Amino acid sequence: RTVYLNGEWLPEADAKVSIFDRGFLFADAIYEVTGVIGGKLLEYAGHSARLKRSIAELGMELPVSAEELLEIHREIVRRNDLKEGLIYLQISRGAADRDFAFPKEPKPTLVLFTQAKSVIENPKVKTGMSVALLPDWRWERRDIKTVQLLYPSMAKMQAMEKGADDAWLVEDGFVTEASSATAHIIDKAGKLITRPLSNAILHGITRASVLDIAEEAGIPYEERPFSPEEAKNAAEAFITSATNFVLPVTVIDGQPVGDGKPGPLSLKLRELYIAHKT
Ligand code: PDD
Repeated sequence: RTVYLNGEWLPEADAKVSIFDRGFLFADAIYEVTGVIGGKLLEYAGHSARLKRSIAELGMELPVSAEELLEIHREIVRRNDLKEGLIYLQISRGAADRDFAFPKEPKPTLVLFTQAKSVIENPKVKTGMSVALLPDWRWERRDIKTVQLLYPSMAKMQAMEKGADDAWLVEDGFVTEASSATAHIIDKAGKLITRPLSNAILHGITRASVLDIAEEAGIPYEERPFSPEEAKNAAEAFITSATNFVLPVTVIDGQPVGDGKPGPLSLKLRELYIAHKT
């Protein structure tokens, strides 16, 4: 792979970052993941807007202009001949002598790489995925897309040890989100229920599009927190993310959701999402 590091295009083995980088020492960094289908960027406007917000929340500035950033995204797709997969972008506060206080003149590290991955064809669309419920022990600013991903990573591993595909995290009696995706359910009346935006969850770009698509398709929705019990008794459940689009969830903590098969509205939303966005 050819990767991007601070203005340079390099073979991945030659891209080196300092051991003093604050991304490495403090997780002082934010990231974005943008899907690519047919060599085209998906939902770029949404991802770049969220990136600007994340970076502002950390008191940093984009190290390149908005125009340059878009050009870098396009260029990395070209250089890697990426047809389907994702672009990972990370901006850290850069290398500085280890100190909890931020450096006065940070030199941010901007990194982009691609990952080829089949997104449209996903075997889990047919079977649905299973999730295990685990406590949400992340920090309280989950609206910022930081690289503090140790807990989500541990939660996913614990879920997998229980035989599930992923975790749904629970806080104060309500589901927050999956380890790296937004959680949604559909009640027995066919209404989509999803947690409202707050600092408790990442403001999913796919979530926003799916709500627009639901509205257009005449599928009613309500933004409110839902409990694990409500989720287990729902007609359908699904997740959304840049690299999963809409993916049905058919088992929660070992219990089938609805008839235990991917739900018709979840599958319809997936189809509409693909038709609208790719
Ligand atoms: N994760 N919630 C969390 C905690 C996430 O990490 C993600 C995305 C989402 C979905 O957001 P979006 O629809 O904008 O992709 C929700 C990315 C894909 C990742 O970490 O790989």
